[in-house]
Amino acid sequence: MGETVSHAWVLKRRPQGRISREDYEWVETRLSEPGPDQVLVRTIYLSLDPTNRIWASDMDQYMPPVELGEVMRGGTLGVVEASGHADFSPGDIVQGIWGWQSHYLAEGGDGLTKMPVMPGVPLDAYMSVLGATGMTAYFGFLDIGKPQPGETVVVSAAAGAVGSIVGQIAKIQGCRAVGIAGSDDKCRHLIDDLGFDAAINYKTADLDASLAEACPDGVDIYFENTGGSITDAVFKRLNLHARVPLCGLISHYNEFDGVTGVRGPNNYQQVLMKRVLIKGFIIIDYFPQFPQGIGEMAGWLAEGRIKYRTDIVDGLENAVEAVNRLFDGANTGKLLVRCSAEP
Ligand SMILES: NC(=O)c1ccc[n+]([C@@H]2O[C@H](COP(=O)([O-])OP(=O)(O)OC[C@H]3O[C@@H](n4cnc5c(N)ncnc54)[C@H](OP(=O)(O)O)[C@@H]3O)[C@@H](O)[C@H]2O)c1
Repeated sequence: MGETVSHAWVLKRRPQGRISREDYEWVETRLSEPGPDQVLVRTIYLSLDPTNRIWASDMDQYMPPVELGEVMRGGTLGVVEASGHADFSPGDIVQGIWGWQSHYLAEGGDGLTKMPVMPGVPLDAYMSVLGATGMTAYFGFLDIGKPQPGETVVVSAAAGAVGSIVGQIAKIQGCRAVGIAGSDDKCRHLIDDLGFDAAINYKTADLDASLAEACPDGVDIYFENTGGSITDAVFKRLNLHARVPLCGLISHYNEFDGVTGVRGPNNYQQVLMKRVLIKGFIIIDYFPQFPQGIGEMAGWLAEGRIKYRTDIVDGLENAVEAVNRLFDGANTGKLLVRCSAEP
């Protein structure tokens, strides 16, 4: 097959504020045919995640920061194009975190997980509802939130990848699901398409009044994706023994490395008065339990009880600009880059 031309986004400097095109360099390399034990993979989908902004910074974080000069880290799904490794054959669908590059030459199959592709399940499902995103919703909500039928659940960034799944699992558990999102269209989508009981546009609504109306019995679980003024408003309505799975704080990510740092909730005393459990979690801690979570989620998906949406941007060359869609609220559902066509 000869040489393969590969393209990659390499981190050139640490972003200040929003990620910009100047923070990255577009690099071309030539990969030779895979030798013994090597596997050549073509990237099909790249996951864009709010945490890309964290990985690009050198703040104290849950994984080593991406080093300057390194290919930007990112969750990926691809197809094996050629293989010198006994366990991988051309056409195999594989997942990994080989990052923002069009091709990957894996040594010894390192970092490649062969996907047991299920009939009738589209490939983008493995990068969303049946991938790390879906599992973040599943384990964060069920393991930390410990929902009981009849309880009220509020989720922020509710029309996004994680939030949209949290609200639907809340309904499956017999809870009242209230979503907070950034547009009227997203709020309509939550109620009409995903079965949320209520939705609040935090950009236009009086948050306090809308939450009082949407949560007449208070809030038992707040699935935290944003931080900021949404948190302050929801905390006022937390019930006794409420649970707060702390999944993300996207409203702060562009300021983490600034001098100001991150504000906590302005009504922290509520945690004491209401004996609230707040627990931060990172989905990688749940990797060993993924088969169980994916199994149950796949069942709900097949029964039509869980729906998912992917928001797809075409072309790896557009990845840097596209990641800011997450911070602008331009995405609905899981944001992916389609780097090349599905086989
Ligand atoms: N702990 C973990 O292991 C883990 C794993 C995955 C994701 N996460 C976290 O989960 C959260 C959601 O991630 P995701 O991948 O599902 O992304 P997403 O929700 O699909 O996209 C991010 C959404 O956040 C909202 N947003 C952006 N800036 C905001 C702000 N200043 N205030 C309020 N909302 C804002 C936007 O929607 P609107 O239009 O509604 O503003 C945007 O669509 C993030 O905080 C992420 O870091 C954590």
